[in-house]
Amino acid sequence: MKFFIDTANLDDIKAAADWGILSGVTTNPTLYARCGGTLADFESHMVKICKIVGNDVPVSAESCATTTEDMIADGERLAALAPNIVVKLPICEAALPATHALAKKGIRVNMTLIFSVTQALLAARAGARYISPFVGRFDDIAEDGLHELEAVVDAVKNFDYGYWEQEGGPEIITASVRTPNHVAQAALLGADIATVPFGALKKCLLHPLTNQGLAAFEADWKKVTEQA
Ligand code: G3P
Repeated sequence: MKFFIDTANLDDIKAAADWGILSGVTTNPTLYARCGGTLADFESHMVKICKIVGNDVPVSAESCATTTEDMIADGERLAALAPNIVVKLPICEAALPATHALAKKGIRVNMTLIFSVTQALLAARAGARYISPFVGRFDDIAEDGLHELEAVVDAVKNFDYGYWEQEGGPEIITASVRTPNHVAQAALLGADIATVPFGALKKCLLHPLTNQGLAAFEADWKKVTEQA
């Protein structure tokens, strides 16, 4: 499973890229607002992210348009910013024809706010390159996000859709990730990608037995060096 980072924060993106584990970046209006983004700077900020991660690494930039025509126009403009831009659109009636039109032009869409198998199947059929089922927001309302993710993976992976198969799509991005368990289970369930906030990514590094082992190595090495 590939790791994407779910943030618009340039420092966090740079840090995760330096780890050598980063295969993509996803942003959304909330994440952009959280790092103080303004409308005037939106496109240049997306370009900055693209430059940090390099041309081979997909960067999802979300359109907030509400009509099909505006989504297509936004999608074309965003895709022209850099070769690695993926246009992010929320699943809704206006976004399906926009996704279809953009896919036919070779523009990749990440269809977001997916909470059901039927939404995921519609996104795939319309030509989405990436499909983003949300896990944590189910858990937030005491439902089982991983159970829904499993159903989406099983259903979507059953078919070919005729758009992105030559480059391994449509790929499922596990989104709304809160915990290392979400990440581990996403991999075990067969999701292609998990997009993870940097805080949760750091938690994926940690294990108390590793800390215990490191402390023991340090103490024993001290004995070795003190003997010399
Ligand atoms: O990028 C979309 C998704 O990952 C947002 O997650 O934490 O706002 O539910 P969250």
